[in-house]
Amino acid sequence: MQKRTLLYEGKGKKLYTTDDENALISEFKDDLTAFNAEKKGSEQGKGALNCQISTQIFKLLESKGIKTHLIKTLNESEQLVQKCQIIPIEVIVRNVATGSLTKRLGIKDGTKLAFALVEFCLKDDALGDPFINDEHCKLLNLIRDDKDIEKIKDLARKINTILLEFFDSKNLRLIDFKIELGYNPQGELVLADEISPDSCRFWDKATNEKLDKDRFRQDLGKVKMAYEEVLKRILS
Ligand code: C5P
Repeated sequence: MQKRTLLYEGKGKKLYTTDDENALISEFKDDLTAFNAEKKGSEQGKGALNCQISTQIFKLLESKGIKTHLIKTLNESEQLVQKCQIIPIEVIVRNVATGSLTKRLGIKDGTKLAFALVEFCLKDDALGDPFINDEHCKLLNLIRDDKDIEKIKDLARKINTILLEFFDSKNLRLIDFKIELGYNPQGELVLADEISPDSCRFWDKATNEKLDKDRFRQDLGKVKMAYEEVLKRILS
């Protein structure tokens, strides 16, 4: 499958058209951004690591009945994916309080939450991706059918349950993560984008060492080593 024209360039990926009008090539970039792209960096090989990590996770989720946009992985940094209409909502699932949740609600960092908290942000860089609720989603017509809000929450919780168990078996604590969903050419709601250390927080089970993009956000160093460690454990 050949890349045709660049359709879209985001912070973490480039999307190219292909000869198949229903399929795109997603190329994972080495760029790192944080705080709505106020902080920028790059780590050679990071894109390839995220592509491989995300491939493994999407395959795991597919094997558990979750529909995803992934058709196949083409090489270490490119995937062939279904062309989807991406829903402009970032769906965040949290198991442990950290990051923006602690700042917004004053919950102590590291507090285990009584249940998995699902939150929505509007995908809009100019507005700083503000937190929104179910009614905002309906008001702004972000979804095709109002019932999709509950479907999205169910899907997010299902994915969390599968990933919590999987990462626990790899001695990693899944602290929180962000997913994006879209409508595929058949009109089905599917998991899109990626699931990687760019979009999740992983803490080592024994030491709580951070093995995700917080190493870049907080200038902790060894960013690539952390992503390599996550891939190594996933493949173990
Ligand atoms: O910053 P915050 O604590 O709200 O992030 C929650 C989770 O969502 C983290 O895993 C973070 O990496 C992810 N996230 C993301 N992209 C964003 C915002 C958050 O992947 N734009």
